[in-house]
Amino acid sequence: MSIETLLKQHAEKDLLRFITCGSVDDGKSTLIGRLLFDSRQVYEDQLSAVQRDSRKWGTQGETADLALLVDGLQSEREQGITIDVAYRYFSTPSRKFIIADTPGHEQYTRNMATGASTADAAVILVDARKGLQTQTRRHSFIVSLLGIEQVIVAINKMDLVDYDQKRFEEIASDYQRFADKLDFKAVHCLPVVALNGDNVLEPSANLSWFDGKPLLNLLESLPSRQANSQGEFRFPVQYVNRHSSEFRGFAGTVAGGQIKRGERIMVMPSGRQSEVASIVCFDGEREQAHSGEAVTLTLKDEIDISRGDMLVRSEQRPRVAEALDARVVWMADQPLLPGRQYDIKLGVRTVSATPELIHHRIDVNTLEHQHVDELSLNEIALVRWRLSAPAAFDSYQRNPATGAFVVIDRISNLTVGAGMVVRPVTDSLADKSKNVVWHEHRIAKSQRAGQKSQRPAVLWFTGLSGAGKSSVANALEMALFQRGYHSYLLDGDNVRHGLNRDLGFTDEDRVENIRRIGEVAKLMADAGLVVLSAFISPFRADRAMVRELMESGEFVEIHVQASLATCESRDPKGLYARARAGAIRNFTGIDSPYEAPEKPEVTLDTETLSIEECVDTLLDYLKSRRILV
Ligand code: ADX
Repeated sequence: MSIETLLKQHAEKDLLRFITCGSVDDGKSTLIGRLLFDSRQVYEDQLSAVQRDSRKWGTQGETADLALLVDGLQSEREQGITIDVAYRYFSTPSRKFIIADTPGHEQYTRNMATGASTADAAVILVDARKGLQTQTRRHSFIVSLLGIEQVIVAINKMDLVDYDQKRFEEIASDYQRFADKLDFKAVHCLPVVALNGDNVLEPSANLSWFDGKPLLNLLESLPSRQANSQGEFRFPVQYVNRHSSEFRGFAGTVAGGQIKRGERIMVMPSGRQSEVASIVCFDGEREQAHSGEAVTLTLKDEIDISRGDMLVRSEQRPRVAEALDARVVWMADQPLLPGRQYDIKLGVRTVSATPELIHHRIDVNTLEHQHVDELSLNEIALVRWRLSAPAAFDSYQRNPATGAFVVIDRISNLTVGAGMVVRPVTDSLADKSKNVVWHEHRIAKSQRAGQKSQRPAVLWFTGLSGAGKSSVANALEMALFQRGYHSYLLDGDNVRHGLNRDLGFTDEDRVENIRRIGEVAKLMADAGLVVLSAFISPFRADRAMVRELMESGEFVEIHVQASLATCESRDPKGLYARARAGAIRNFTGIDSPYEAPEKPEVTLDTETLSIEECVDTLLDYLKSRRILV
């Protein structure tokens, strides 16, 4: 094989990015060192330096101390970089890897928040002697907040527990029970001894009872995320380039979707429009640019654009608001205090912002929501921020690049928190009852649910009118009832006869409809019930709002899917015909939009599945998530 072919093959190999979480004591550095060392990507000279050092300082006798290798790379990397995430590269014949390594100590949670958002997977280390720690849970929770869906739990130091299969299984099932409440697609637990390489690259004779793949094979087989070029076009303007009097370009990195020359764009927040005249890149002019590419755009018209503005397509606008709710990971010794002023850096834009209230803090061990007045180091909470000026942003779930921010202390200029936007807050959602104090109940939700031998949940059915939401929800509730579960079904048509009879079908009324149902569902879940709700709930942001009201893992979004044509031909209530005839306004699917879920927990296609099959699918899902036991 020629060197060119070899290089070409290497360049075309697919890439997996992952992060590692755990502390040095858990053996994280050793494990990374092992991956780098054994996959022979370590430069020979670094290697011999390590061998020298470990003879001098080594704690591992004559074998090279791999932790020294990683720490050595780290000190090199750390020079001159502000975010202390160290990236390391290695490759195997089938894949290239980037590890974003983050120091494990709790204080360094912020490194996770900055390094993790582009990762495909997370490797979480657990010391087999210690089992799950608060830190393990915290890291796992942050990993899930960041939208990483694949987790490998490397249960390390198996040699120190005599390669005991029972101990491994105990920790794995503890972890599984915790992870059930998080939004992971896949959790792989595997036993390793990083120090000796057991089950890292090769299966180990000491762990012969383990029949899964060793770590590296597993990493080679995980699916990697696709670049976000399909998504909505987002171009935050990093700086305005006035090269000459004729040339006025807007430089930045495409943060979502793609753009072609000649396409119309809109500037946020001003709303002005123009057309892309040229796309300039370091190697000349281009026809188009994709997510992740750094380019300069010039426009047909002379319009006012400054640093921090965002170019988008007019039909795919981000939200512009002066307030937002976001999940915040607090990273400073000084607590976050509502009312204090901070700066937040949303993409390239910095605005001053004040936390107005803390909706709740999330206990990382139990994932319960707690009412607090301030947020301390390493704590995570849902916080409402009021901005000093309107800003354009997305929810983090929709676009991590335009939906994440860091919080900066205005005096020290240090990063004190990281935030993930959950939703914009418009006036209709602002709290009008500020002087109300929350009272804790004497009986906890878990006790109420325990009395009924179940886990509370909200099964949220969404879909077009006529898709089958009520039919499936009713059938599922009957199945739950027969199995002895305590549930309650909230249904659009019924609730609109009572609680929400003052609401119609304008966008605002639908938002309020869902907000009230969400609050009712929350109270019912608090009473320990399995709540089923069947509403069109056409807007993503509103469903996200309800998800956010609930504790992690409690909200199950079920997309009841059928094409508009099918729903219209079913037309059980004759409403589509009337809407087509113009007798009903704002009818979903006809003259009011339906935003399908992007990542529902379950999708039921009622064009191909019978109601019984839908119910079976749901029962299986609820069992697999251990909502039903
Ligand atoms: S939602 O959009 O606010 O979630 P919801 O589920 O409560 O709607 O109510 C939908 C039900 O109201 C439909 O099943 C239908 O029977 C009835 N309805 C009456 N007018 C409309 C309309 N304009 N759009 C949608 N549904 C309507």
